[in-house]
Amino acid sequence: MCGIVGYIGTQDTKEILLKGLEKLEYRGYDSAGIAVMNEMGVHVFKEKGRIADLRAIVDNDVTASVGIGHTRWATHGVPSKVNAHPHQSTSGRFTLVHNGVIENYAILKREYLQDVNLVSETDTEVVVQIIEKFAQEGSHIEEALRRTLAILKGSYAIALVDNEDPETIYVGKNKSPLLVGVGDDFNVVASDAMAMIQVTDQFVELMDKEMVIVRKEAVTLKKLNGEIVERAPYTAEIDASDIEKGTYPHYMLKEIDEQPLVIRKLIQKYQDETGILTIDTDIIQATQQADRIYIVAAGTSYHAGLVGSQMIEKLAKVPVEVHVASEFNYNMPILSEKPLFIFISQSGETADSRAVLVQVKDLGHPALTITNVQGSTLSREADYTLLLHAGPEIAVASTKAYTAQLGVLAIFASVLAEAKGHTVEFDLVQDLGIVANAMEILCDEKEELENLARKFLSTTRNCFFIGRTMDYYVGLEGALKLKEISYIQAEGFAGGELKHGTIALIENGTPVIAISTQEQVDLSIRGNVKEVVARGANPCIISMKGLETEEDSFVIPAVNELLSPLVSVIPLQLISYYAALHRDCDVDKPRNLAKSVTVE
Ligand code: M6R
Repeated sequence: MCGIVGYIGTQDTKEILLKGLEKLEYRGYDSAGIAVMNEMGVHVFKEKGRIADLRAIVDNDVTASVGIGHTRWATHGVPSKVNAHPHQSTSGRFTLVHNGVIENYAILKREYLQDVNLVSETDTEVVVQIIEKFAQEGSHIEEALRRTLAILKGSYAIALVDNEDPETIYVGKNKSPLLVGVGDDFNVVASDAMAMIQVTDQFVELMDKEMVIVRKEAVTLKKLNGEIVERAPYTAEIDASDIEKGTYPHYMLKEIDEQPLVIRKLIQKYQDETGILTIDTDIIQATQQADRIYIVAAGTSYHAGLVGSQMIEKLAKVPVEVHVASEFNYNMPILSEKPLFIFISQSGETADSRAVLVQVKDLGHPALTITNVQGSTLSREADYTLLLHAGPEIAVASTKAYTAQLGVLAIFASVLAEAKGHTVEFDLVQDLGIVANAMEILCDEKEELENLARKFLSTTRNCFFIGRTMDYYVGLEGALKLKEISYIQAEGFAGGELKHGTIALIENGTPVIAISTQEQVDLSIRGNVKEVVARGANPCIISMKGLETEEDSFVIPAVNELLSPLVSVIPLQLISYYAALHRDCDVDKPRNLAKSVTVE
């Protein structure tokens, strides 16, 4: 979703801001803008569309050493130049960019801005106008910002510049992510470290309801009551080359191909010096005390949670419930006596999951976050973290983070099982190695999978994915992948459930992708395929070696059944990728979507 950058230093700010915004493109946006400040005042450039469109209108003759920038994912008001950030106060003195949602903006507008003519439809403009109002009443800028932040309800990450104080960027944060990067003779502001990793790897985390005064030579953190906060920077462990596409046409394809490597890296990261898989003993002890595990997540991470619940229940024999974060937040079930919560989130910033975490912490329950982003909000605020070690995932459609989530969940389940005295009947290190090899084989079968995408999906308007048990969960993920990047209406169903209603949608030629990797339900899912074929469906059966028949369209290498989702998802990812390519869709940045969903 929206992204913020800011720079104050000695170099020309424009290019640093634009490059930073390009690094945030992956988050999803529909317009962008920058404001740079020099002795002539503030110069604002903003445009609907891509950063390339913004670049085209930026005046190259304007040089400055202070500036802020923004990519906007529309919430209040359509994507347009007027609604794009930065927004300015009526006098032009204050210029501001904002991520998040100001829930009480309409009330604030009525209360404070009756006499102000707002030019945009955004909640953000209300904020900058109120800052101006307080300044006009005599507040110094810092006080005006503090007073404004104190009356905002909702989420915000804000960067503000003041014409009358050209040596400073003012920053505020509540719920939405924001970091301050520190350097020699310059400092920066960024929604995530990737945006500014080219200039510094030293970042200071901001907590909710903190503000920061960022100058070229100093960064001062304060609470909203003015109390100074001391916090040392941490080193962001991101290799700048990890966030480049290299020779790949799309990040998504690169990230699909990285999966075997990610699984091998995971094995290494979670092995002790003797080669045994291990998880922090505090985490295992906390889990052993729990009578039930609640997994909370959204989208692809929720699908990983479904598979993970099976791994944990089968190996460690602990009951697990899996919940969609946005529902759990408003509709919490009656909890067991000693629950333990697991939050699964690639970004670690998903607002829906974070809202649940806040409630869970208020209730005093232990929480573990499984995330790809060290230092992310969900990681910081949970008691424990397990990292995915998948490297930055840039494409909006999650691929390598999903398989890494499954890998970590499998390791967690098996270590927990051993700790509880349950024998794990297989060697997970060896079986994950077999999974990595199988992934590699599948990544080499792109041509065949592209042909399947052409055969089954080139003209269809819809598609169904069916499976049973683990394969059902993978079908859900396959359907999500297909719909989010190709815009084909796709649904995943439990094989036995179609006949309870949805089978009415099957027409002549409707593609039905069936997955069969589980011996126990192989015959049942094949029976479900017969049912849809009898009604005209065009079946594409993807089976696992050992279960294959002549009618199958694609066979994946044999792996441990419990780990099969790590492998069976790969043809689905690649089929979705090619279906989107064939339809000329923007694979890495699908319409309406954001990588990091930081509003509820
Ligand atoms: O960062 P998170 O894992 O918390 O994100 C959750 C979902 O927004 C995310 O998985 C989304 O569904 C992806 N676009 C799926 O490809």
